[in-house]
Amino acid sequence: MATAPTIIPENDPRNPVPFPLPRAAGPDQVPSHVPEALIRSTNMLFNPEFLADPYAYFSGMHEKLPPIFYDVGRIGNAWQLTKHEDAFFALRHGEYFSSASSTPFPRDPSDYFYFLPIEIDPPMHRKYRAIVDPLVNPQAVLKWEERIRKLSNDLIDSVIEKGECEFTEDFARPLPVCVFLDLMGLPQDMRDQFVTWVVQLLKTFDPTQMIGTMKVIGDYLKSAIEDKRKNPDEGMISRIVHAAPNGEPLSDKEIFGFVFFVFIAGIDTVYATLNNIWYWLARNPDRRHEMMADPDNINAQVEELLRVFSVTFSGRILKQDLELRGVQMKAGDRITSILPACNYDPDVFPEPRKVDFHRPRKPILAFAGGVHSCMGAHLARLEIKIGLQEWLKRIPEFSVKPGAEIKYPPSAVVGPEPLPLVW
Ligand code: HEM
Repeated sequence: MATAPTIIPENDPRNPVPFPLPRAAGPDQVPSHVPEALIRSTNMLFNPEFLADPYAYFSGMHEKLPPIFYDVGRIGNAWQLTKHEDAFFALRHGEYFSSASSTPFPRDPSDYFYFLPIEIDPPMHRKYRAIVDPLVNPQAVLKWEERIRKLSNDLIDSVIEKGECEFTEDFARPLPVCVFLDLMGLPQDMRDQFVTWVVQLLKTFDPTQMIGTMKVIGDYLKSAIEDKRKNPDEGMISRIVHAAPNGEPLSDKEIFGFVFFVFIAGIDTVYATLNNIWYWLARNPDRRHEMMADPDNINAQVEELLRVFSVTFSGRILKQDLELRGVQMKAGDRITSILPACNYDPDVFPEPRKVDFHRPRKPILAFAGGVHSCMGAHLARLEIKIGLQEWLKRIPEFSVKPGAEIKYPPSAVVGPEPLPLVW
């Protein structure tokens, strides 16, 4: 049994202290304070039971596993939180839960840069969000409505006459990539290239492939950053490049880590969510009809679908010892909030697997919560809403292509693909 490190250096981009923090993995790296009774080895993202039906698995966690357990596996050992209340606490208490080294993307320790704003704790975190939030707050995203409607219809135009499509490639992936390119101020002719990069970087667990792809994407983003320095525009890259909070411009590494993280965060999360929703719609014509018959309830429909089909997780590291639900955790322990399981917590959402468009409103954790809650949540909601409205208007009847075997590839962003549909 190894002992967890007890000192967490401050994550401050101006002071590149010894990051990344170590990521213990495997049974011989379990800290001595973890009780045997709470150790599991779910191997979740690769577990055949999980991959057969991830959402049944997330829901079943409340019956089959302790509410807090210590998972030991090849991609890292960590405490797992499945109760809504516990994850909500973790997300809102930065004094205990640090975001240091919270993403799995490898970087050169001798030339370390942070993914911003996700890897920075308050109070410094605030300055980064203040730069970009004005472009993605609820009011600001309204200006994207017509553009997203047009993009959605263009994508539908390209498949509607064929009577079938592979939904991921033909709709779910290009839509958020096109929106991302517009938001960042990048040219639309980079669409196919970005689609390829998203798949190469975010659908692998192989660090060598990740490093290679990050280099290629990074080179492109660096040249885009240089371009925006000389040619400012309304896009997010330009806004980050020219920001000077308290009169102090961001460093090159801050700008790079910020722009890169928006790319990482804003594409596969959306397309996995769309794939999950369309897979469900394709198998539930009565629910589709119910949605179409109640168009004024679209916002609640989107919210409920985001609850039922949350796609990702939230990682933290403990800054100080903490007892939660009687479990003693120590500074240095890694913690994962299993957000999709939290959204199936029966204490908060009775009959959690039932898709109920009239549920009393409670905070869902699809976009996490607290200071790091998703920066793109309003934009993502809009993409999902408009995608649904336009698709259901033009292709109201559709189903999964007969004979198609739908699989969930192992990924930290959960969604079925490919998804062949017919109508
Ligand atoms: C359905 C789609 C999406 C889902 C489910 C999602 C989910 C999440 C979650 C769970 C977090 C918090 C992670 C944590 O606490 O560790 C997060 C953060 C973030 N997301 Fe999203 N996201 C989505 C779309 C987007 C989009 C479209 C963008 C950008 C345009 C975006 C940008 C970000 C950024 C920058 C952060 C970090 C925020 C911070 O640290 O302050 N996301 N997202």
